Amino acid sequence: MSSNILVVGSINMDLITVLERFPKVGETLLGQTFTTALGGKGSNQAVAAARLGAQVAMIGAVGDDANGDAALKILQQEGVDCSGIAVKTGMSTGIASITVAEGDNHIIVVSGANFALSLADIDAHADLFAAADVVLCQLEIPMDCVLHAAKLAKQHGATFVLNPAPAQALSAELLALVDVMTPNHTELKQAFALSETASDADIAQILPAHMQLVMTEGANGASHYSAEGKRHWPAFKVDVVDTTGAGDTFNAGLAVYWSQGLDVAVQHAQASAALAVQKLGAQTAMPTADAVGMFIKQQMH
Ligand code: RIB
Repeated sequence: MSSNILVVGSINMDLITVLERFPKVGETLLGQTFTTALGGKGSNQAVAAARLGAQVAMIGAVGDDANGDAALKILQQEGVDCSGIAVKTGMSTGIASITVAEGDNHIIVVSGANFALSLADIDAHADLFAAADVVLCQLEIPMDCVLHAAKLAKQHGATFVLNPAPAQALSAELLALVDVMTPNHTELKQAFALSETASDADIAQILPAHMQLVMTEGANGASHYSAEGKRHWPAFKVDVVDTTGAGDTFNAGLAVYWSQGLDVAVQHAQASAALAVQKLGAQTAMPTADAVGMFIKQQMH
């Protein structure tokens, strides 16, 4: 299996503090550990896809600072083609301040250079779209860049997968270009302006006929919605250490195995995410294709 994935998305340096419980407003707490690691939904999905054996290229932007240098070095070491990553003079690389506690996380992103990515930066690397089987985007870069990437994916016959995170409303123009959308429940509601109590029937009704939707439901598994109806897969049962980047790992797995059919793609996406949540951090926790294969075999016995 070899798939060509182009990720158009964000690159952050994650500043990760682990503590026993989240602080209350106005409270000072002593944390347990502090680490930095490469993150950003785009770069996480690129690294996860590369570890799963895909040929991966990335379009994005970093600042001309130490975090930007480190990001490029790490992505290159992971085998990601960084020729499409612009270095923005005088700007800071994006950072994410992450607190991990009580089996969950809080994330605050300061976008920096990610929001300086331009249509011209993307056009300069149209060759990467021509080589891609799947173009994978998230929402941590300017919306006009996401739309442009979707248009170029269509022009070049690639499958356009949108992970609509962080949650926001999406235009009809963008929705018309999305082949596969991978929201969680909150993102789904915002993307389609659905009510809090929206049912499966409501989702089926708003779903454009051309679109497949794979909704991630954390410990409850994942569901696929399409014109043919709904399917659900329960999650693998594992001990969760840190969910940061689990959604990114799932998206990468889905994109890498998409050409092998829905069942294989969802199974590998879920197995990849199940392995990722058992370790601290986003990219530090992402598994290789071999580890995913072994995990699936173990789970089947
Ligand atoms: O999805 C996890 C990612 O969200 C983190 O790595 C952080 O950088 C934010 O973009």
